[in-house]
Amino acid sequence: MNHRTQVGIVGAGPAGLMLSHLLHLAGIESVVLEARSRRYVEERVRAGLLEQGTVNLLKETGVGERLTRLGLTHHGLELRFGGRGHRIDLSGLTGGSTVTIYAQHEVVKDLIAARLGAGGQIVFEADDVSVHDFDGPTPKIRYRKDGDASELSCDFIAGCDGFHGVCRPAIPSGVLTMYDRIYPFAWLGILAEARPSSDELIYAYHERGFALHSMRSPTITRLYLQCAPDENLGQWPDERIWDELELRLAADKGWKLNRGAVIQKGITEMRSFVVEPMQTGTLFLAGDAAHIVPPTGAKGLNLAIADVRVLARALTDYYRSSNRELLTKYSGICLRRVWKVQRFSWWMTSMLHRFTGENAFDQRRQLAELDYVTTSRAAAQTLAENYVGLPIE
Ligand code: APR
Ligand code: PHB
Repeated sequence: MNHRTQVGIVGAGPAGLMLSHLLHLAGIESVVLEARSRRYVEERVRAGLLEQGTVNLLKETGVGERLTRLGLTHHGLELRFGGRGHRIDLSGLTGGSTVTIYAQHEVVKDLIAARLGAGGQIVFEADDVSVHDFDGPTPKIRYRKDGDASELSCDFIAGCDGFHGVCRPAIPSGVLTMYDRIYPFAWLGILAEARPSSDELIYAYHERGFALHSMRSPTITRLYLQCAPDENLGQWPDERIWDELELRLAADKGWKLNRGAVIQKGITEMRSFVVEPMQTGTLFLAGDAAHIVPPTGAKGLNLAIADVRVLARALTDYYRSSNRELLTKYSGICLRRVWKVQRFSWWMTSMLHRFTGENAFDQRRQLAELDYVTTSRAAAQTLAENYVGLPIE
């Protein structure tokens, strides 16, 4: 089958789906091609913290109903070290901004429902997706559905297919420059049927390694432990995970970690990665296809949404007035913000984790950094304004 659309989108993650939704609102047609099934993408457990700007966008564009009902608004967070908690007043330090706990796969569900409800086309379980002719004005996406070959012709391709997708590798060598950092640790994450042990997130620095207390609902806790990059999950029975969390999150004044049944367990790798530029010809990369951040700042999803916001605006401008100016500026506009978010994610990661090969000086420096951030209003404000989300140019 051969078919045509204005924007061909590879990947039904937050980037691809949000782009399709924003384009639809601007009267621009798109088709989304996704390798996995609808059920798989709607159940894939990922992070779950939305910046103020992401929340505003979801609500303003009509996909915020469940988010408003089920999202947990947070006005602050806790940094815990030396057995004591220190609150960062996110709202007070940013003129009222907040962050919201709402799982990424719930955002994906809401966007899929909105697209399909508006007659949008998402091809799930599209096999052998490949992108062609994006050095010219009529790029094509080839794929198979139920064994049958199809070709989708379009004006533009959006590569929203994540870090392991096919769009970035399809770009000829020499066009892209990659910037990469791999960290010598990973996160072991669990979802547990337990009441959160605190109303707010707790980022804990401990000599045994970093730990994070987060949540998904008033009855589900999300917890993470710094672990080895090649950690074997088989060596972490639930009891050992809870004991380790208890040690690392320990605080005086009678704080207690609520335990419960572990319903999901996984390892998250940690890397920083950026590709420059984020566009070549009529192929535009967005989200994890173009950059990865370590999860410490909770920025992955938010960066993906920020990219497609810029891309949707540029495409809207083009279709309304044949003006390509914003399209040519897409990469530059995104990368300026991407690098600031990379810096923040790297900084949070560096401040809170134990590194192999570090010495006593490094530990003292980390503790001094934490002490500074929790006692200087200027330093706390720097953390807060990045955490709730930098403005989009
Ligand atoms: N063909 C079609 N679809 C593909 C292909 C392919 N060859 N390869 C990957 N995909 C799909 C994946 O199955 C996935 O659904 O592309 C989608 C990419 O989605 P995400 O990985 O969620 O990436 P993105 O939309 O950029 O969102 C970034 O996701 O990984 C998290 O932490 C990250 O929160 C951030 C967010
Ligand atoms: C999460 O809830 O999954 C989460 C929260 C904050 C982070 C990372 C992950 O920094």
